[in-house]
Amino acid sequence: MSQRQTPHAMLPDIEHDENARQDFVFSFRRHLATKVSPGTTVAYENRVEPRFVKEHGRNPADHDEVRKVMIEDPYYQIWSCMQRKSQMMMWDSVIDSCERVLPDMIEKARESNGPATLKLADLGFEVPRYHTSYDIHLQPGGYHTESTVDDIAAGMVYDTAVPIYAMGMMGPENDATGETLVNFYKTNYSDCAPERILDLGCAIGNSTVPWAKAYPNAEVHGIDVAAPCLRYGHARANAMGHEVHLSQQNAEKTDFPDNHFDVIGSALLFHETSRQAVTNIMTEMHRILRPGGVMVHMDAFEQDASGEPIQEFLATWEVFNNNEYFLKQLRLIDIIDELEICGFDQTKCSFQKTPYVTQTHVIKKAAKGYMAGGFRDINVLVAEKE
Ligand SMILES: C[S@@+](CC[C@H](N)C(=O)[O-])C[C@H]1O[C@@H](n2cnc3c(N)ncnc32)[C@H](O)[C@@H]1O
Repeated sequence: MSQRQTPHAMLPDIEHDENARQDFVFSFRRHLATKVSPGTTVAYENRVEPRFVKEHGRNPADHDEVRKVMIEDPYYQIWSCMQRKSQMMMWDSVIDSCERVLPDMIEKARESNGPATLKLADLGFEVPRYHTSYDIHLQPGGYHTESTVDDIAAGMVYDTAVPIYAMGMMGPENDATGETLVNFYKTNYSDCAPERILDLGCAIGNSTVPWAKAYPNAEVHGIDVAAPCLRYGHARANAMGHEVHLSQQNAEKTDFPDNHFDVIGSALLFHETSRQAVTNIMTEMHRILRPGGVMVHMDAFEQDASGEPIQEFLATWEVFNNNEYFLKQLRLIDIIDELEICGFDQTKCSFQKTPYVTQTHVIKKAAKGYMAGGFRDINVLVAEKE
């Protein structure tokens, strides 16, 4: 049986047939990413663009124009159809395993004790409409839906699916995003010993735990709007033995005091929030970050720097086909200007390159299920508060 992630007590035991299906989806997605997807650019360059040029006497001006002609191309249609199908198959394949063990796992989460803490909001807490009005990235019910008392299903499904979604690029503990931000902060702020750290949009705490590992003396908080993910994340952190403090809060308006945190981070939060929420969250972070404190965010903030409309078109595939509706608008915001509006000094805000950490040494040692991703550079959005 292939091992896609490091086992821990809150992951479902995967039965033989379930594993075969999950392996298939993993390989299918990897095949699409490495063998089929590159052909879309070839189809564009060899067929779609020349036809457009012949008809209009010029190249397509932007990715919207590319879109109009690419969606008619049979190669693109086949890839796009299979890509979407692979996402749906992924959720189906892991939901079977999670559903089978759910009652026992809910009991386990209820009884979970250890160094982690959990604070859920009172009844009446409103999960933002940008989550409740559709199933984000086609995950049935999204992160927040609760179908039974003390539900943890959304968290368990997410934890089990991420290695398949990311084809191993999230590392064996689904923590490569958090590890990357921690690595960036440690490298660039090596003199700092933060006492209070906050991870926004922490989901199952997978991006929170790396902060606790790196700064065991700090108080490390993670907030999210989704109760099932937080319940699961709490039990998961306990199972792994990490002290993180998880609470159900909307990052647009938290209950933390002014000037409270030394470091605030987020990984993959903003592309799943509305335009207004981006402003609200950055303004709120300016309130709770202490003077001299640092924010580090990792997300799809920028349009493709190459300026190639075909690449920007492909980069926004998820907007139209994978219920990632807010991804496109995030790429259009001038986020540095936005930070100024939210209270930060623009001259203290920048994008900085850092290696994406996928714990290659662990991945290489592990079973074939992992994809040895290695390191590549990504941009981190950094803002220091004066
Ligand atoms: C893609 S997940 C990221 C999980 C994790 N940070 C990682 O790196 O894998 C985004 C998370 O942000 C949460 N989220 C979205 N809007 C939020 C908000 N306004 N406040 C707090 N959490 C939010 C979602 O519920 C979801 O769990």
